[in-house]
Amino acid sequence: EKAASSIGRFPLVPVRGVPLMSHIANNWDSVWAFKPDPSDILIATYPKAGTTWTQEIIDLLLHNGDAEACKRAPTPVRSPFLEIASPPPIPSGLDLLKKMNPPRLIKTHLPFQLVPPGFWENKCKVIYVARNAKDNLVSYYFFDQMNKTQPEPGPFDGYIHKFMRGELGWGSWYDHVKGYWLEREKKNILYLFYEDMKENPQREVERIMRYLDVSVSDEAVRQIVELTSFKNMKENPMANYSCIPSPVFDQSISPFMRKGEVGDWTNHFTAEQSKVFDEDYDKQMRDLDIPFRVML
Ligand code: A3P
Repeated sequence: EKAASSIGRFPLVPVRGVPLMSHIANNWDSVWAFKPDPSDILIATYPKAGTTWTQEIIDLLLHNGDAEACKRAPTPVRSPFLEIASPPPIPSGLDLLKKMNPPRLIKTHLPFQLVPPGFWENKCKVIYVARNAKDNLVSYYFFDQMNKTQPEPGPFDGYIHKFMRGELGWGSWYDHVKGYWLEREKKNILYLFYEDMKENPQREVERIMRYLDVSVSDEAVRQIVELTSFKNMKENPMANYSCIPSPVFDQSISPFMRKGEVGDWTNHFTAEQSKVFDEDYDKQMRDLDIPFRVML
């Protein structure tokens, strides 16, 4: 309780131009020097793109769809968050990783250029999940209200502008999705979309399975799809972040498993906000054609 209440909202400090929470920036050299094992798997996302969902799918794939095995510990313990170094009760990623044997399933929100080079040197499997900008923004807005370690989100309209300018934690969404997209072939990154996972989870689970070179039965795939439905993960205490105490994640403000839908942005953006956002989006995304879908 004491540790939790001493956490507070961390300011953002730029690391090579990318705003990161100060506890990450202060620990940057150890993050950058991290040496993964070639068998480690990295799951990379911009915050709120479907990280936890994908972590659960992969953990289940690595455990042959065994629900009980995947309830051995909460998500951030089963699958450490590489750059997180905040005080207890949020476990430090590097500390957890030291105690685990490979293959480890490692989560990061770092943009491509800040991923520790050891991952590329060791040719680790890297799975990136991208989510359409407007839903990603809305999800982040609610998260920044309930996550007491992140900077105050302020009013929604101002938040939209911070998002467009790349001023939120982990920086620009636009640079993030583009950075991994540009390198996906050279670095053998599996690039997934949240919207594809919603549309056809079985297809995407099988895609991940093939990429990871694991093979589980059709029955296990069906079981994994079922166990990782939004509803089941929301009710699963080992997947819904109820492990983080309320002074840190106040789920009475907004649950971690909030809505889990495509197109929720239409409930939050006004027509005018949407227009301003789209005009800016076209400029920022003009150089690349990444096939995002804002509705299903
Ligand atoms: P919403 O806020 O739109 O509901 P991350 O894990 O990267 O922090 O992403 C969290 C977002 O993914 C939240 O979005 C959360 O509800 C959604 N999510 C988590 N598990 C999900 C699942 N099994 N199916 C669909 N969406 C899921």
